[in-house]
Amino acid sequence: MSEAIKLGFAPFSTPEKGVLVVFADDALQFGPQTRAVLKATGDLIARAAESEGFKGKLGTALEIVHPAALPLARLVVLGVGKPEELKPRDYVRIGGIAAGKLGGATREATIFCEFPRGPLKPDQAADIGLGVRLRSYRFDRYKTKRKDDEEHNPNGKVTLATRDVAAARKAARVREAVAAGVSLARDLVNEPPNVLFPEEFARRALGLRKVGLTVEVLDAKAMRKLGMNALLGVAQGSQHEARLVVMRWNGGRRGAPPVAFVGKGVTFDTGGISIKPATSMEDMKGDMAGAACVTGLMQTLAARQARVNAVGVIGLVENMPDGNAQRPGDIVTSMSGQTIEIINTDAEGRLVLADALWYTKERFKPQFMIDLATLTGAIIVSLGHEYAGMFSNNDTLADRLSLIGEATNEKVWRMPLGPEYDKLIDSKVADMKNTGGRMGGAITAAQFLQRFVGDTPWAHLDIAGTGFASPQSDVNRSWASGWGVRLLDALVAEYYER
Ligand code: BES
Ligand code: MN
Ligand code: ZN
Repeated sequence: MSEAIKLGFAPFSTPEKGVLVVFADDALQFGPQTRAVLKATGDLIARAAESEGFKGKLGTALEIVHPAALPLARLVVLGVGKPEELKPRDYVRIGGIAAGKLGGATREATIFCEFPRGPLKPDQAADIGLGVRLRSYRFDRYKTKRKDDEEHNPNGKVTLATRDVAAARKAARVREAVAAGVSLARDLVNEPPNVLFPEEFARRALGLRKVGLTVEVLDAKAMRKLGMNALLGVAQGSQHEARLVVMRWNGGRRGAPPVAFVGKGVTFDTGGISIKPATSMEDMKGDMAGAACVTGLMQTLAARQARVNAVGVIGLVENMPDGNAQRPGDIVTSMSGQTIEIINTDAEGRLVLADALWYTKERFKPQFMIDLATLTGAIIVSLGHEYAGMFSNNDTLADRLSLIGEATNEKVWRMPLGPEYDKLIDSKVADMKNTGGRMGGAITAAQFLQRFVGDTPWAHLDIAGTGFASPQSDVNRSWASGWGVRLLDALVAEYYER
């Protein structure tokens, strides 16, 4: 929640101050507009490249402070390798890398959106702008003194020089909606758990009425009436009441079945009576990253007026151990009527999703449901922080998610489901138990969820490794990643808009 840098587009012209970023390929060639500006510097760049060993490799940079012949504070030559080999997703990344080179003292910067072959297309220039935005996000709401940040000036202004300014601005409008959705998701995940508990999360979701979403909030009483005892059981050890939020965007054909997104929103996960060890427990403030993604996504769809009917459902609870907390051994009856034996109160996310998925399926009869959840430590053991785990009962949906994952660089890796795994969660005393043992822990968690989706095409994304605390990337410096907003927005845009 920092002041956003100002981003604008303008035609190519030699900047009169600040930082100039230009792109070079691995033969150290520049585009014509860039050459025209750099002409005044003679052989300066060639000599600097020689002495620094700069070869124009993708992601590397050559920086020249106060180049004598130009009125600039700094000239940054950013390598793009072999431009013909770049994938669409690389432009966002390049924008992020460029933003990382602007410097904390920089008030004004210009990025020449041009490769040796000539100007970038409007979509590519706008992607560079998206990368700048994503990289510039900071969460500094709770800092009372401004921290010196070597790569970022919150009051900075960045101009993207481009050929077709009007077309680039138009392309950038959609991306601004995406960047704002990602920032919202990151804000929600970064917020501390004493501030962001279920009611407060719901209050923020209600704020999205201003972008045109229909938002309903169900309190504990309403959920009790619906029989959502799996979700409510998780919340019963907390001073904070549970909430279920339903967000709707109707930009599609009237009456057409919606696409549905369902998020795990555990605003803090102590583990409950099966309490977690102290080390890194503070990270469990991010156990609502699935719900944050759904919220950011719904804002994005509304802000860019997506031509689709979409619903976002988030189950909000705090998992705490008090005298009223759920016990191992308890049996709860879910909204579906199926009974669950609680083995481990730390396997709470699936209990929340069981009722949220069933409710979404019954009420909205969606075309598909995609749930997002920081569900298991086991998925981090399997896939690390690069890929989210994907489980699906529908090959078309799974293939689409894989493709869009590669295109947006929010990657998913499909994991198996099957009756052999499903057997592991059968219970002696109830219909199922909430854990299936240590082995294949991400899979048995997904099997559990599958028991609540019926025949609805469904995908489950386990984002425990990607939602927060993943390594800093070219497009994110924050603890929270906002993972999934770009993936799911692009999925909708590519396949589900009328
Ligand atoms: N929220 C955790 C999973 C998690 C762990 C997310 C680390 C992000 C980082 C989840 O509620 C949990 O505690 N899962 C248990 C399940 C087990 C008790 C079957 C786990 O993964 O250990
Ligand atoms: Mn847990
Ligand atoms: Zn959890």
